[in-house]
Amino acid sequence: MTREIVIVGAGKVGTAIAVLLQRVGYPIVGIASRTRESAAEAAKRLDPSPEFGDVPAELTRKGEIVLITTRDDAIEMACNAIAEDRGFHEGQVVLHVSGSLPSTILSSAKEKGALIGSMHPLQSFADVDMAIKTLGGSFFCLEGDKEAVETANELALSLKGQVMTIETEDKPIYHAAAVIASNFFVSIIDMSLRFYEAIGIDREGGLKALMPLIKGSLNNIEALGPVKALTGPIARGDARVIWKHIQAIGRALPELLPIYTALVRLNVDVGLRKGTLAPEAAERILEIVEG
Ligand SMILES: NC(=O)c1ccc[n+]([C@@H]2O[C@H](COP(=O)([O-])OP(=O)(O)OC[C@H]3O[C@@H](n4cnc5c(N)ncnc54)[C@H](OP(=O)(O)O)[C@@H]3O)[C@@H](O)[C@H]2O)c1
Repeated sequence: MTREIVIVGAGKVGTAIAVLLQRVGYPIVGIASRTRESAAEAAKRLDPSPEFGDVPAELTRKGEIVLITTRDDAIEMACNAIAEDRGFHEGQVVLHVSGSLPSTILSSAKEKGALIGSMHPLQSFADVDMAIKTLGGSFFCLEGDKEAVETANELALSLKGQVMTIETEDKPIYHAAAVIASNFFVSIIDMSLRFYEAIGIDREGGLKALMPLIKGSLNNIEALGPVKALTGPIARGDARVIWKHIQAIGRALPELLPIYTALVRLNVDVGLRKGTLAPEAAERILEIVEG
């Protein structure tokens, strides 16, 4: 628990992780950022307040663990600049916190003898205070060099987080899953509201009406898992309802029909796995969808 930590990137995640790791006893010995102002702002939240600055390599030299918490598009560049300025050394652990990028973007640190990895908190943070509240206890996805993953595991567990470890090459699939569960879910709710708008229900009223249904579905997914939680016409094998949907959507919102039919296919797959959708009913639904 005594390894010294330096943070590079004093934004939401960088500041929150510095505050939380200091709380559980890690010495935070430096905070660097693109601008001195952000680094100073983050340093002010810590007690004792660490050194801060806008030349990361000057600070990273002093740490045994370097957490690069810049925006995704700056991670590789920041890492390369630190490597060039001799800010990394043999045996240091260098981690980034991006969900979409693999640890291999830190290869310039590895060339200097560091061990590289990533630890992605599977959570969404709107601001620093919210990140301080919710980062601890998050699920962290870890990948990278064995010793770097061990360090990331130690950090995540000390933040009362839970961990899952993946292979570096599986990072895009891991991230796509998160995008589906979070971002695509948002688009699906938006699609529902567009259907309501098409029949004269405004977005605000539509969302208010849908929220109990959405929350009920989330509760069922959490309690039962998505397969057992499936209800509705496809789970019951009611092909006529799907036929009526397709006719109506084709008239009112034809541009959304391909998405609706793709989602019907996915729903059929879940219904079959649930066992309440008979294979013959599934066939009828798929025939309707294929037109
Ligand atoms: N926010 C989330 O919901 C969330 C969730 C999971 C993971 N993450 C990951 O966390 C990382 C940071 O995201 P964030 O939301 O905390 O971003 P953010 O609030 O925008 O902060 C990014 C910080 O990076 C600094 N920075 C940019 N370029 C830099 C450079 N070349 N050298 C040093 N510092 C630099 C910026 O500094 P200045 O302020 O000085 O310009 C900024 O403070 C990303 O990898 C992101 O994928 C974010």
